[in-house]
Amino acid sequence: MISIAIDGPSGAGKSTLAKRLAQEMGYLYVDTGALYRSIGLAVLRAGKDTQDKAAVVSCLPDIVLDLRYIDGTQHVFLCGEDVSDAIRREEVSMAASHVAALPSVREFLTETQRELARKNNIIMDGRDIGTVILPNAQIKIFLTASPEVRAQRRTRELQQKGQNVPYEEVLADIRERDANDMNRAVAPLKQAEDAILVDSSGDDFEASYHKLYDVIASRLPK
Ligand code: DC
Repeated sequence: MISIAIDGPSGAGKSTLAKRLAQEMGYLYVDTGALYRSIGLAVLRAGKDTQDKAAVVSCLPDIVLDLRYIDGTQHVFLCGEDVSDAIRREEVSMAASHVAALPSVREFLTETQRELARKNNIIMDGRDIGTVILPNAQIKIFLTASPEVRAQRRTRELQQKGQNVPYEEVLADIRERDANDMNRAVAPLKQAEDAILVDSSGDDFEASYHKLYDVIASRLPK
């Protein structure tokens, strides 16, 4: 099986690019952020503080997560309910970043991710895929872009969904999540030593897509 790990900060374009690459290559696309988001959502729904470690851990035994593919698209089910849309809300982004800092949450999700990689050719995107989850992935990419560019993209994306969040607020949110994700003690966001760095700041979707495609195509085992 072939595993391609794409890590990087929020809003660098990982999921849109990885989804299209996976489609093109006939690989399974795994968005691991959706798993952390689902746990964040479950904690919010339980009325608990997502920054309270004991409260978050107490929610875990009741959480059943399942990734299913419907017409080739990943859907995440939380205790049988399709929460694929609910986890995209802004408040869930921050909740996900909080719960993702906890070792017990990360352990809770490790096996689900590795199992998918054992059974499928995959493109998996996240923060620690190349460093922790799949250290033996054949191809590792660290995809990044400046916080300002990422905030612009995210603001547009939210607008398209009818959520009018001001750019400044989105930028502050991105900076806060970057800080959480990069400075946590377990599995922080960082480039694996053997990852290829791709900066998408100056590129539109098509240009980034071709850049990534070329990087992957030239490194795929023959
Ligand atoms: O990729 P995303 O924005 O959907 O991820 C949501 C949060 O989950 C993000 O703040 C970081 C965390 N995350 C993580 O810690 N490890 C992963 N493999 C994926 C996401």
